[in-house]
Order: sequence, then C-alpha cells, then structure tokens
Amino acid sequence: MPETPASMDRTLLIVYHSQSGNTEQLSQAVEQGALGEKSVTVRRLPACAVTAEELCNCRALVICSPEYFGYMAGAVKDMFDRTYEQVRPKMLGKSYTIVVSAGNDGSGALASIERIVAGFKLKKVQEPVVSRGAVLEEALAKCRELGQTLAAGMAFGIY
Ligand SMILES: Cc1cc2nc3c(=O)[nH]c(=O)nc-3n(C[C@H](O)[C@H](O)[C@H](O)COP(=O)(O)O)c2cc1C
Repeated sequence: MPETPASMDRTLLIVYHSQSGNTEQLSQAVEQGALGEKSVTVRRLPACAVTAEELCNCRALVICSPEYFGYMAGAVKDMFDRTYEQVRPKMLGKSYTIVVSAGNDGSGALASIERIVAGFKLKKVQEPVVSRGAVLEEALAKCRELGQTLAAGMAFGIY
C-alpha cells in the first residue's frame, strides 16, 4: 500500500449504505455541514466503493448505516471485512462517529458498528445520530451540525 499523503490530515470520509434513500439523505446532510469548512476535504462514498486506501487516507470517518435485521447493513460490514487486515495498523486514533437510520431505536446497528470499530482503535468524537422512521428535518439538522462540528474540529487540529 502506498504511503498515506499529507492530505489525510484534513480528509473527512463519510461512508454510507442506503436502499430506500434514508441513510443517503442523512449522509448528504453530514456532507453539507462539513463542506462549510474549506480547509477540510470531504469525501462521501457508498460503503461498497470504499477501499482500504480511502480508509487509510482519511483523518476522520462518519459511518452511516441503516439497521437491517438488528445489525449494520451488510454492505457496511462487507467494507470492514474487506479492509480490516490492511487498514487496522493505520487506523489508530482516527476520529469517528456514527449515523443510523432505523425503523426502531437503531441499537442493534449501533452496537454492531461500535464492536467493530473497537478493533480499529478509533476515537469516538461525537455522539451518534439515530434517525427513526422517515427522515425528518430534525435528524437532518443534527447531521448537518455533526458534519460542521467534526470538520471544524479537524480544521483546528482537535480531531
Ligand atoms: C431488509 C431490512 C431489514 C430491516 N431491519 C430493521 C431492523 O432490524 N430494525 C429496525 O429498526 N429497522 C429495520 N429496517 C428498517 C430500516 O432500518 C429503515 O427503513 C431505514 O430507514 C432504511 O434505510 P435506507 O433507506 O437507507 O435503506 C429494515 C429494513 C429493511 C429493508
């Protein structure tokens, strides 16, 4: 794998999976919030397109997943499965947060993601946003705020 570029210090990677568009909307709101911070590079990608290199090259990660069958989406799990061995040594200390869209409380998806990122030794820097049912403006506003706060923290070198 190539050396990670200096730009990783300011790259925010937003990964998502979405079947009916709910999680995608939330991930777009995170992106909108983060784009206000011009010194931060924001990349938003479907989980199926995320490579080990993308993960290594980011400074902070927002994992956006629907809850399917009490777990994270299979595509998000697949991203971790495909990249784990390559990225694990390079993820230590990167910042992360989680956005979940669910019919219920999203606790199954949240817990499954938390368990996996514990193995990467990522640093949780924001509380998760959980959107229940149809995506409402309140959840979008929370996601925009999350993106804005994360990007601002990166610009200041806190995250
Ligand atoms: C296959 C499937 C399984 C689901 N399982 C759950 C579940 O276990 N718990 C829950 O709260 N919602 C469940 N849902 C509802 C979704 O989490 C919810 O509709 C979510 O907003 C879908 O996001 P998306 O539009 O980004 O795919 C399920 C939906 C699908 C399609």
